Amino acid sequence: MPSFPQTRFRRTRSADWVRRLVRQTTLSPDDLVWSVVVSDRADPTEPVASMPGVVRYSIPALVKAAKEAYDLGIPALALFPHIDPAKKDDQGSEASNNQGLVQTAIRALKDAVPDMGLICDVALDPFTTHGHDGILEEGYVANDETVKRLCEQALSQAYAGADVIAPSDMMDGRVGAIRQVLEREGFRNTMILSYAAKYASGFYGPYRDAIGSAQALVGDKKTYQMDPANRDECIHEVAMDLEEGADMVMVKPGLPYLDIVARIKEEFGVPTFAFQVSGEYAMIQAAAQNGWIDGDRVMMESLSAFKRAGADGVLTYFAPQAAKILNA
Ligand code: PBG
Repeated sequence: MPSFPQTRFRRTRSADWVRRLVRQTTLSPDDLVWSVVVSDRADPTEPVASMPGVVRYSIPALVKAAKEAYDLGIPALALFPHIDPAKKDDQGSEASNNQGLVQTAIRALKDAVPDMGLICDVALDPFTTHGHDGILEEGYVANDETVKRLCEQALSQAYAGADVIAPSDMMDGRVGAIRQVLEREGFRNTMILSYAAKYASGFYGPYRDAIGSAQALVGDKKTYQMDPANRDECIHEVAMDLEEGADMVMVKPGLPYLDIVARIKEEFGVPTFAFQVSGEYAMIQAAAQNGWIDGDRVMMESLSAFKRAGADGVLTYFAPQAAKILNA
């Protein structure tokens, strides 16, 4: 690069038209997956205190909201359940109930908005009394026993009509086991989006409130989710999930882990998503509500940062709000 004044970087920043012309990253509604919470109690919606602007939906209210989101150009939903605590047990049995909340919501959504992609979380935490993603044996989440249960959960979602199975549990070997079950049962085009690089993060706090697992959670998830201090493991996690049959991979949380997003995209070149999780959402909303930041501006800036880092798309609670701005 020649030096000053042959080069003045400010020349190509000097007007809106040239800034637009040289812009490297663009965001469109096509990049957004809307994460939503469905509840068997909401009538028709109920607010989530720690996530201002986010509500839990009844199934009919969710169907209506999904139609609106699809009309805004949002290609897919990621579905999370808040179930009646009376339905929870230590095995998370409700996770694979074919008449359960998630399965019923999938059928209703597929019926009303058939062209919208449906991504379903596979993990037991919304369904267990102890709030862990798997089955506890003497306080430890037992890997192989949990994988069996996750296969049943995934299969029951596939039968209900889920397009994408998204295991978020971080058990070893679960992608391969789920892929095998899906193939065996004839679900050849059911995709797996693996939460491949998922860290044991404090940023999930408001989500656990949203799905009602916060009070329940005994201990933490450090024996299965990755240590936030680590970099190398993400490569091995993603490599293994791809080998086992994942079609797409995810990094989670999002913004504090953009180095991981960039590294994975560069290394593997597969569809790579980032999850702008509940705590990231809550921080932006809280600061915006206090008038400390321009909420819309920071929302759009954060979403385009994911694209700049190399993500193909973002799971976000902001999806409809962002899509409205992009469509304006
Ligand atoms: C559960 C799961 C979590 C999230 C998605 N799936 C939380 C956790 O691992 O405790 C977090 C989503 C968010 O914070 O927005 N397996």
